[in-house]
Amino acid sequence: MTLINNQITQNSRILSVGAYRPPRVVPNSDIVELIESTDEWIQQRTGIASRHIAAPDQSLIDMSVEATTIAIARAGISVEQIDTIIFATISYPFQAPSAATELAARIGANSAAAFDISAACAGFSYGVGMASDFVRNKSARYVLVVGGEKLSDFTDPTDRATAFIFADGVGAVIVGPSESVGIGPTIWGSDVQNRDAITLEPSFLEFKNGKSVADVGWPNIAQEGQRVFRWAVYEMAPVGRQAIEAAGITPSDLAAFIPHQANERIIDSLVKSMGLPESVEVARDIRTTGNTSSASIPLAMDRLLEEHPNLHGKNALLIGFGAGLVFAAQVVELPPKPQ
Ligand SMILES: CC(C)(COP(=O)(O)OP(=O)(O)OC[C@H]1O[C@@H](n2cnc3c(N)ncnc32)[C@H](O)[C@@H]1OP(=O)(O)O)[C@@H](O)C(=O)NCCC(=O)NCCS
Repeated sequence: MTLINNQITQNSRILSVGAYRPPRVVPNSDIVELIESTDEWIQQRTGIASRHIAAPDQSLIDMSVEATTIAIARAGISVEQIDTIIFATISYPFQAPSAATELAARIGANSAAAFDISAACAGFSYGVGMASDFVRNKSARYVLVVGGEKLSDFTDPTDRATAFIFADGVGAVIVGPSESVGIGPTIWGSDVQNRDAITLEPSFLEFKNGKSVADVGWPNIAQEGQRVFRWAVYEMAPVGRQAIEAAGITPSDLAAFIPHQANERIIDSLVKSMGLPESVEVARDIRTTGNTSSASIPLAMDRLLEEHPNLHGKNALLIGFGAGLVFAAQVVELPPKPQ
């Protein structure tokens, strides 16, 4: 057998990040009435004070164009150089064609390989892991990884378990070739026994079968908050530790921790159980952005770099977890300061 000459000679890294939050800021006081809650309860239980919600006529793709344009400019590449687009989302309202191809058409990446992934709040870290392997294996050179959600379309404003949690926004990164090893191995997996802990139901097929929204309801996210909370707190710390170990570093080599922004108490618990030193900057974008599922890590990354420009080029642990239940974590070198 002739060996295919495809040695891994190329490292990968995140070259840039871009973010977009819709301009409308919705404080807790605007949503508490419908769910018989209080600003104090929401802040105490989740850390969330406000979130951004898109206008009804602002689509997920509209928001994605904004975030992506920033990421491409900051990477110092042209849109034609993007050869692959991975779009992580659970709130794009079409099965086909994909959000990735729609975005490709809008930004002019007309022949890029393009596909969506459905891994909920772990979607961005799934995408970064795949993008890194594509670049290292030379299946791609510049990969646009987008995490984007318009969760307001699929959240019931009267549901006490979700209405104050979910929000809208898009984050995007360019993963490309690098001299250094800029992305460590991805530790990923699932816990499918907990598939029913977070759901988006009913199926659209219900409507084909003649039922109406009045009969079966609109597909909104539902979750068993305490079950998800306990799972995240107990199961995700070992995953984070494995990602640190797989990258060949120790917690003290980290400059930042950018977990999925699900609940600030989950974040605090992970910091403690992973034994992260105080020198590690922890992303707490949830306070003013809420939980934006697949968008939460890149949005939090962008904000952290804006607030702490010294973190450019330093090591950060990323960890995403959510519906499935699924998870993914990796250590990355944060993107360099844009020129
Ligand atoms: C959703 C979440 C904030 C709820 O907090 P909790 O402490 O588990 O709340 P519980 O459901 O146990 O309810 C505790 C009390 O608060 C009350 N409560 C529930 N929802 C409320 C709300 N929206 N406002 C005010 N009170 C509320 C309950 O009635 C209960 O009252 P009681 O003690 O008098 O019976 C929390 O479980 C959570 O964040 N889970 C993780 C969810 C998540 O991150 N999902 C995304 C993963 S990707």
